[in-house]
Amino acid sequence: MIRKYIFGKPFETEAIVKKVEPEQGMPTYGQISLEEGFSYTYPLAEDDIVYGLGEANRGLNKRGYCYISDCSDDPNHTEDKRSLYGAHNLVVIAGEQNVGLFFDYPAKMIFDIGYTKQDIMKVSCEEANLNLYVIEGENAYDIVKQFRGLIGRSYIPPKFAFGLGQSRWGYKTREDFENVAKGYRENRIPLDMIYMDIDYMQDYKDFTVNEEEFSDFPEFVQGMKDQGIRLVPIIDAGVKIEDGYSVYEEGVKNNYFCKREDGSDFAAAVWPGYTHFPDVLNPDARRWFGDHYRYLIDQGIEGFWNDMNEPAIFYSREGMADLKDTLQEYSASEADVPVWSLGDQVGALANNPEDYKRFYHQVNGEKIRHDKVHNLYGYNMTRAAGEAFERIDPDRRFLMFSRSSYVGMHRYGGIWTGDNKSWWSHLLLNLKMMPSLNMCGFLYIGADLGGFGADATRDLVLRWLALGVFTPLMRNHSAIGTREQEPYQFERIEDFKGIIETRYRLIPYLYSEYMKAALSDDMYFKPLAFVYPDDSFAVRVEDQMMLGNEIMIAPVYTQNARGRYVYLPEKMKLVKFGKGGAYTEEVLEKGHHYVEVALDEVPLFIREGRCIPVAKAAQCVEKIDTMQLELLGFEGAQYILYEDDGVHKNYDEQGNYKKLHYE
Ligand code: GLC
Repeated sequence: MIRKYIFGKPFETEAIVKKVEPEQGMPTYGQISLEEGFSYTYPLAEDDIVYGLGEANRGLNKRGYCYISDCSDDPNHTEDKRSLYGAHNLVVIAGEQNVGLFFDYPAKMIFDIGYTKQDIMKVSCEEANLNLYVIEGENAYDIVKQFRGLIGRSYIPPKFAFGLGQSRWGYKTREDFENVAKGYRENRIPLDMIYMDIDYMQDYKDFTVNEEEFSDFPEFVQGMKDQGIRLVPIIDAGVKIEDGYSVYEEGVKNNYFCKREDGSDFAAAVWPGYTHFPDVLNPDARRWFGDHYRYLIDQGIEGFWNDMNEPAIFYSREGMADLKDTLQEYSASEADVPVWSLGDQVGALANNPEDYKRFYHQVNGEKIRHDKVHNLYGYNMTRAAGEAFERIDPDRRFLMFSRSSYVGMHRYGGIWTGDNKSWWSHLLLNLKMMPSLNMCGFLYIGADLGGFGADATRDLVLRWLALGVFTPLMRNHSAIGTREQEPYQFERIEDFKGIIETRYRLIPYLYSEYMKAALSDDMYFKPLAFVYPDDSFAVRVEDQMMLGNEIMIAPVYTQNARGRYVYLPEKMKLVKFGKGGAYTEEVLEKGHHYVEVALDEVPLFIREGRCIPVAKAAQCVEKIDTMQLELLGFEGAQYILYEDDGVHKNYDEQGNYKKLHYE
């Protein structure tokens, strides 16, 4: 049962696709106050669990902290951070009373979930202009499924996107990319994608390629494809200001960039130096920006990642001018300057909330200040691409994922969770975030495996890849200046190869479960609580997840551990995949177990009475032989395998379901 309440004059975010007739009056759950902006207060019972918020910090149960939906470019995800790159305003309260709440509001929103007062959840924002959806259901899982029906089908990538991707900020020359391909292929490690970070462009200009390095780009792209590898370039939000650069000139001429109040184009510095932001909330500008992806598609590119689209700002002209004034005042004065004040002022230049008040969007003839719709920027940049793909090749799937997002963007692309660090705590954060993202519609998801910032260690990369085996987006990415973390940079490469091969062995199953989840608005990763709601141990478990309908995963996330404790809510078969196609099996009874897991192993647990198909490893997704599948699990079980060509969009017609029996 879904009820909609309208407050004030909401901005239509287009997060929702299903029409819901609005109710009169106030919701029966919680209390609303319109005295100072908008606030919604809900008393939490002692045992209530609060799920949701998609890409947010901390645990699966959001109780006990304060989170702020305010898309932020902040690479330091320490435990105290309240905002990350996405804004996903769904919370689901599970307890005696089960209720889901979606606050469809595009600006900053505060979710105080038992932080100020332990038993109170307070959701608030500055302006009382929003749509609130209240969902009643039998339990949290039921509520999530209703919500998913409301927001429309999740994005479906091409099948190659289930292969491994290798990335690093710093690959620059043609040789750099060729060396990555060689590093993998010479060691016979499977690989499907190499990501191209900003250095492939000419001076960081979107929709250009450095001609000197890539004199025949289509030939280079094809050469990689011949080895089973797709190149996936990055596209940044800011368009470089440079005379003679056609994208810049077209944008200026047609008023497609975000403007200051006085009508001039707003300028902010990002990687290329000063840039303008395409006004992707304006349908004409969105169409124009999206059409530019064709430039790379025409050269053989089949996928992209959209970055810096919070939008990230290193500094604005105004911010820089203010700083210069302050510094001048300091230097002219004899008074002492507190040292931290200097540092703070320089630091505050980046992603300064004041800058988000300095530019405007044109939406349906109305001028809207950016901060009032801030959380929609990444969403609409990715929508620009998604809508363009529909025009360019309507039947074909393109790979697309974004850094910043809002609910609604899940229909156009996936997300990666931004700049994490090579920290063990971020491996665990990666795991916990996955089901929350699924609740909000994002299915094609993954984190930078091995960690983006800071130096990785061999064991961290191995353990993180062993989690990445299960995330739809499996990509090893790292920052320039950090320790290189491609598998072939470490000792005993065969350990890495074994883990990655396990991914490829599982792709028929993982793809099938992804497609089933996407086609029926269901979840790919579920908390144990959604499957075993009556098991009091299972409902509180946060470091194990259900994947699809057959398996449970329990990755190791501590350094020097030889294994970990795992709780089994029912009898299961533990399968540990090792090197060279080897695996061991053991049936474990319901209850607590210590499970040993070596650094080169990938464990999974098959539920009682079920089985999963496993293929032979292959060098790329296209080479996986889906006719030769082995079944693992319980005798007598059957599995329904979903298959399609992995390229086209007519899933409903071409998808075929094959019944496999484990005898
Ligand atoms: C941002 C992205 C990161 C990328 C870097 C350079 O920090 O999040 O993935 O490598 O920019 O483009």
